[in-house]
Amino acid sequence: MNALEHLKSRFAEILTARLGADASEAQLQSLLGMIRPAQDDKFGDYQANCAMPLGKQLGKAPREIASELVEGANLVDLCSNVEVAGPGFINLTLSDSWLKDQLRIALVDEQLGVAKTDNPRTVVIDFSSPNVAKPMHVGHIRSTVIGDALAKIHRFLGHRVITDNHLGDWGTQFGMIIYGYKHFVDAQAYETNPVSELGRLYKYVRVIMDYHGAKTKLPEVQETLEKQQAALERIQSEDHGDNKGKVKQQKKDINRLNEKLADQRALLDSHGATIETVDSDAQLQAVAEKHSDIAAAVLAETVKLHQGDVENKSLWDKFLPYCLEDIQRLYSRLNISFDHILGESFYHDQLAAVVDDFIDKKLARESDGAICVFLDGYEAPMIIRKKDGAYLYPTTDLATIQYRIKEWQADAMLYVVDHRQHDHFDKLFDAARLWGHKDAELTHVSFGTVLGDDGKPFKTRAGDTVGLEGLLDEAESRALAIAREQNSQLEEDRQLEIGRVVGIGALKYADLSQNRSSDYKFSYDKMLALRGNTATYLQYANARVHGILRNLDINPRSLRDTPGEFIFEETVERQLAVQLLRYSEVLNDVLIEYKPNLLCNYLFDLAQLFARFFDQCPVRDAASAELQQSRLQLSDLTARTISGGLELLGIEALERI
Ligand code: ARG
Repeated sequence: MNALEHLKSRFAEILTARLGADASEAQLQSLLGMIRPAQDDKFGDYQANCAMPLGKQLGKAPREIASELVEGANLVDLCSNVEVAGPGFINLTLSDSWLKDQLRIALVDEQLGVAKTDNPRTVVIDFSSPNVAKPMHVGHIRSTVIGDALAKIHRFLGHRVITDNHLGDWGTQFGMIIYGYKHFVDAQAYETNPVSELGRLYKYVRVIMDYHGAKTKLPEVQETLEKQQAALERIQSEDHGDNKGKVKQQKKDINRLNEKLADQRALLDSHGATIETVDSDAQLQAVAEKHSDIAAAVLAETVKLHQGDVENKSLWDKFLPYCLEDIQRLYSRLNISFDHILGESFYHDQLAAVVDDFIDKKLARESDGAICVFLDGYEAPMIIRKKDGAYLYPTTDLATIQYRIKEWQADAMLYVVDHRQHDHFDKLFDAARLWGHKDAELTHVSFGTVLGDDGKPFKTRAGDTVGLEGLLDEAESRALAIAREQNSQLEEDRQLEIGRVVGIGALKYADLSQNRSSDYKFSYDKMLALRGNTATYLQYANARVHGILRNLDINPRSLRDTPGEFIFEETVERQLAVQLLRYSEVLNDVLIEYKPNLLCNYLFDLAQLFARFFDQCPVRDAASAELQQSRLQLSDLTARTISGGLELLGIEALERI
């Protein structure tokens, strides 16, 4: 048990007694939730703020309740000081001897004293899940690293984790490469490098499809633009004299219209650019003209594939391994693996039965030829079979939920997916519960968009999505440049290794350290900064400890095999101890709302405290051998917590940087 759990368990009994027999568990938990780490260490290490609401509820003075709680909680062995302050805050200071005991336990334990849960769950984590046959892009980094971190933290805390990469391996993009292969393949190129030729075919078909799409939409976009322009001119010409209200409204309307106009112009420009790409290339233009019905044809190829057409199915069988090879290269570089890769295609044969079951149970009915599930609280129903017989994304996801519950006995399923799919998951989860899957937790662990410097979704200069591969290359090469500068004397191999670990670590950490629900601005400079909340800073802090140990010629194992006393000579040593012992508490917090950034913040605070400790507490020249031993033990614990924490975030740490 960590400090917080100890405190909670001490307060639980007395709170239950005060709340009375008919109080609910939720009430108790809400009061216990008010025991937290102190904001400022002048108020002790932890603070219990539950006397205020309890006083209100019982009609008693909160200070009086606070004193009663303190008396009843039996904190003698745990706290050296307990104070009731202000309106009824309880300030709790952990006793040094308790802290030292816990540090000793952590020091000799592989898990750093972090206990496994008493309540293990089977948690399926659905993450990364790209649509294959298209290159992976910057958007995929978030799902991939957040999902991996959540999997590792769940495992560390003793849960049974099943990671599943729910590939989009059955959609229109295969219709596109099948069409591309049938019409545009360069046999020679395919022979030598199928992965890159398939990638080229995908892009080629995309360009032609977008060209026709843009041409179709252009007149409408133009028309809307003209209408908006006319509306703007009309409003601008209105003269409201000195009617302040109307003048204000006029300004507002003008601003609003200007914003809309800017969006519409951007849309027009982007369609214009799409058309220009083809028009400026006579050969491409001729091909585009010849394939003017390409969108419908691609759809037809997809339908044929789904209906079991022999030729298309065999092309799919041929292409899929190449697509997997392509994404696998990125997963290897990111050092990420999955227990299962069950893509959409895996569920294809189960979809008819899912729809039939919904119909049989009267949970779905026909509307305009389509089979729909009508759910409370939504305007549009969830369509599970289209008029033409095709199944959809939600149908596959329903089959997937059923499979994961039946085959894996999942207690929870976490979907680490872009926030734009919010509506899909809301409906999906409601439909699944309606279908009878009421016990499993279904959570959309959603995340925001990666933005460029301009605050808009991150794009290349040419306006294309940023490929994931290029992103990794750039991060590594920038990190390598820094490594070369810092360690010019190191041999090439070592520099390359540092460049890789620091570059990939920086990229992952930049993402993980953001509150996942927010958008964040992508910046190589920031993510690779040696100071600030970056992986680089943490990796250096870890390497610094190893440097100290090397300089003193100490094997960290020996510290753990024959531990000495912990001594708090300076205030910062005690502060470091309290922070180290909060590790388990923070890991548990991460899993409450699935927020890895809490672990990042914690590690950053820890590394900063360590920097202060390192400044104020000499190790080599410590006043006594005992004090040196204690400081080395604190350093070792810090390095193991930082490198262990980074490992849980999927980030490597090196002993030498
Ligand atoms: N392939 C989907 C996409 O790229 C994400 C799939 C997420 N997982 C799921 N079970 N729906 O948008």
